Amino acid sequence: MKKVGNHNSITRKLFLGLALSLIFSLTSFGQEAAPAVTDAAAAPAATTGGDAVKGKELFNANCAACHKLDAKATGPALRGVAGKYDMPWLYKWIKNSSDLIKSGDAQAVKIFEENNKAVMSAFPQLSNADIDNIIAYTSEPKAEAPVVAGVPVPGAAASDSGVSNNIILGALAFVMVILVVMLFLVNQVLSKVAKANGIVVTPKTPTTSIWKAFARNQFLILVSAIFLLLASAYFVYGFFMQIGVDQDYAPIQPIHYSHRIHAGDNEINCKYCHSAARVSKNGGIPSLNVCMNCHKNIAEVAETTATPEYSKAFYDEQIQKLYTAVGWDKTTQSYTGKTQPVKWVRIHNLPDFVYFNHSQHVTVAGIECQTCHGPVQEYEIQKQFAPLTMGWCIDCHRKTDVKMEGNEYYTKIHEELSKKYGVDKLTAAQMGGLECGKCHY
Ligand code: HEC
Ligand code: HEC
Ligand code: HEC
Ligand code: HEC
Ligand code: HEC
Ligand code: HEC
Repeated sequence: MKKVGNHNSITRKLFLGLALSLIFSLTSFGQEAAPAVTDAAAAPAATTGGDAVKGKELFNANCAACHKLDAKATGPALRGVAGKYDMPWLYKWIKNSSDLIKSGDAQAVKIFEENNKAVMSAFPQLSNADIDNIIAYTSEPKAEAPVVAGVPVPGAAASDSGVSNNIILGALAFVMVILVVMLFLVNQVLSKVAKANGIVVTPKTPTTSIWKAFARNQFLILVSAIFLLLASAYFVYGFFMQIGVDQDYAPIQPIHYSHRIHAGDNEINCKYCHSAARVSKNGGIPSLNVCMNCHKNIAEVAETTATPEYSKAFYDEQIQKLYTAVGWDKTTQSYTGKTQPVKWVRIHNLPDFVYFNHSQHVTVAGIECQTCHGPVQEYEIQKQFAPLTMGWCIDCHRKTDVKMEGNEYYTKIHEELSKKYGVDKLTAAQMGGLECGKCHY
């Protein structure tokens, strides 16, 4: 029995080696992941005086409706305006240009005349420091080429995980090799032990083939037949259940409209465009007038909006499609009267025998759009996130508590029903959310 002890200590050493190599591969993976973060924080370009980053925010909030940096809009282009006028004059002008014009300031009157006597809004709420920040922003040099290298793009994250995947694969392969070597060694040790104990290892003698043995054993045949039937039933069922389920359906739209850029980067509220979702049955697609509230002034995207996949030229062309559809001439800044409808492709579509109401879920139940539609603010291309099957609706009705607080309509029903079920909280299902008639006409 002493020899068995020896064999044990060999495997123990091997296991130790295995554990060490695992720890090593895991730590090297951890180190690989860390440095990717550090170089992402590029320092913002320094400017004299104000803070250009804050200035950009103020500019977008107050001035962008009428001014662009590099092109004339309602007002003149503002890049480098600090070179034209001195700061005290700019403070006065921006806080209240009409007053300045009325006071007879020659410079102010001249600009007013040059711009067809268009009136600029007054901004008494802006402090001198705010205006310094805005002017710092307008004094930044124009970005040259698309700054793809400096901007963290989604693609970069993907290639990072590619590297770590390779490391994990490498580590796994390494572990496999060690296991094989280990088996080989254990086998050798065992046969040595056997030899030492005088056991003769007889080579395998060919017996009746495994298939013949199988065919003779009726019980085995029965068990495997049942197993095969069950397995194929499982797949057939799965196949039939996904018929008519259009999860992840993402058709190509007539205008490449990106929710990522609108609802994500620019944080436009879903309900600004889909205002119907709050008050009616449908979510509703916005009319093109809603788009033009902003796009009268946004004829092109910023250089930084371009991604490796979609160039600035591509995006600008999409906005041009919008202009063609509503008949907007961006050079004269006026409508031509020639319109053509945009035929958006409908993505979500329940069968006609199902009744679904947005306001009931969005306004009454207070459910976020994202619960049912997924992280829309990250979608470059809109798609169907949920399966929209009956099971999906029912499942959520079983799990989701109804919001009772501050809703008088529910106070009385709640008291009665919670007594009936003996619970504090009520799910949508307990309120009647499983009754066929509620969802089916
Ligand atoms: C409602 C539209 C409107 C808004 C909003 C607006 N401006 Fe103006 N701005 C004008 C117009 C129009 C002119 C041209 C002068 C005129 O007709 O009064 C002008 C002129 C100017 C000028 C003089 C430019 C030049 O080259 O002569 C400056 C500077 C200026 N605006 C800064 C700002 C700043 C800063 C903001 C935001 C805080 C702002 N404007 C918001 C319409 C606007
Ligand atoms: C600036 C306007 C705008 C904003 C903001 C907006 N959307 Fe949309 N949405 C659209 C347009 C236009 C379409 C049709 C084109 C498409 O499907 O990409 C659409 C389509 C959709 C669809 C698919 C409709 C179908 O055909 O089934 C869903 C779901 C949706 N939006 C949800 C959201 C959610 C959730 C948000 C907020 C995170 C949001 N939208 C913000 C304009 C907007
Ligand atoms: C609240 C303001 C706002 C509204 C409303 C709005 N947009 Fe935009 N849109 C923007 C901004 C901001 C950008 C990005 C500009 C940039 O990146 O420099 C943009 C970019 C775009 C682009 C180019 C990028 C892309 O998504 O392909 C298209 C096309 C576009 N909008 C179409 C539309 C359509 C169609 C509607 C109406 C359903 C609409 N927009 C409504 C503000 C708006
Ligand atoms: C409880 C789940 C749920 C929530 C929450 C929800 N939706 Fe929907 N949405 C659906 C379903 C289901 C459909 C398909 C409706 C149909 O085909 O009749 C749909 C369809 C849509 C459509 C396509 C047009 C239509 O009405 O058929 C838009 C746009 C939309 N939703 C936007 C929104 C927005 C914006 C929000 C948030 C304010 C929101 N949805 C919240 C489930 C939901
Ligand atoms: C994310 C969870 C969720 C999903 C998914 C969902 N619902 Fe609901 N639903 C609710 C909640 C919560 C209520 C209770 C709202 C209330 O009255 O306060 C409700 C209420 C309802 C009601 C009213 C029930 C009543 O008692 O009056 C109907 C009808 C309904 N849902 C239909 C649907 C249909 C059809 C679908 C699938 C297409 C669906 N719902 C998907 C959460 C959900
Ligand atoms: C919460 C909402 C809801 C309730 C409650 C509900 N259904 Fe449905 N039902 C649906 C939806 C959504 C579909 C469409 C599923 C699809 O298109 O895949 C559906 C589809 C069906 C279908 C068509 C078969 C299929 O899968 O497409 C039948 C039959 C049906 N329901 C019967 C019932 C009966 C019977 C009840 C009552 C016990 C009931 N439903 C209660 C939402 C509901």
